[in-house]
Amino acid sequence: MSSTSTSSSGPAPRRAAASAPPNIALVKYWGKRDDQRNLPAADSVALCLDGPRTHVLLEPGAADAVRWNGTLLPPERLPPYRRLLDHLRSQAPDPVPVLAEVTTRVPVAAGLAGSAAVMAAFAAAAAELFGLTPDQQTLSAAARLGSGSAARSVPDGFTYWQRGRHPDGSDSFTASFAPHDHWPELRLLAVLLETGPKRVGSTEGMIRTAATSPWFPAWVDACNRDAPLARDAILARDFASLAEIAERQAFLMHGLCLTARPPILYLSPAALDFVEALRRECRGIEWFVSFDAGSNPLLFTRNPDDLRLAEAVAGLAPTATVLTARPGPGVRLEPVGPPDVGSP
Ligand code: PMV
Repeated sequence: MSSTSTSSSGPAPRRAAASAPPNIALVKYWGKRDDQRNLPAADSVALCLDGPRTHVLLEPGAADAVRWNGTLLPPERLPPYRRLLDHLRSQAPDPVPVLAEVTTRVPVAAGLAGSAAVMAAFAAAAAELFGLTPDQQTLSAAARLGSGSAARSVPDGFTYWQRGRHPDGSDSFTASFAPHDHWPELRLLAVLLETGPKRVGSTEGMIRTAATSPWFPAWVDACNRDAPLARDAILARDFASLAEIAERQAFLMHGLCLTARPPILYLSPAALDFVEALRRECRGIEWFVSFDAGSNPLLFTRNPDDLRLAEAVAGLAPTATVLTARPGPGVRLEPVGPPDVGSP
């Protein structure tokens, strides 16, 4: 990516490809100040993971279409992609419709922000296809239009998403405050106790919470207080402080969801039992837990060579898949081979 803002750079390529990682929030994004532009009510802090990366390949098509691991998405799934595309197309010299191939190994509903990786890669590939050269802030703001959390899969490593104040969202983007190798020992163990779809989609859940929870204003204040604290804890590699902030955030978010009308319950009894049992078994080991809008415990440790946490997880949830990841880089353009014979 260049360091200038969006500009046109000559004739657009015939195809463009990009890849992006999932990201996990430690200070959560839960609530929008603008539902159309995915503008958050509060600041948040996240880290990109080193995998599994999602790949997006774009080429001009007859009409916008998205193939997801080989299956064409139905028209009702296209509006977020179109929002992002139309925003970039409005600046492009050659605003063509696109055919997109999304290849992802992020398990659906893993709580690993799969849509964030897709939309970040989508934004980078689309900008390239349209002959634009956005800087990272501009690209992050474009990705945000597809999925709010996608703004955080654009920059490298540890990221801060400032909510911004402008109604048009131009000052609401994510920037890296520490590269992915800043804290190489940090590990995520995502314990997939459940693999079904979310009980309530995150957009619907956020809107319902903001509209009905009496605690929503206090939640927004808590996020805006915790985000700079989490950034400082990461910069200082202060695991104990980060653990306190991240657990507070996860349980505040889920407590908040319970105060929506009707209440939203993402955490299953099995997940809470699992975490309580882990606390009993892993006393004296440094770890903490976070949850996204789902029931899969997202465990963090800074001692990857100490296998006691992983062994306790395997003992308590022997059938669960456990995904391991470390901090990773953000979006990048990928080389594109010649078009397949017979493609447009
Ligand atoms: O995927 P989105 O943009 O609808 O947002 C999801 C937000 C959470 O993953 C639930 C929390 C977060 O901050 O990542």
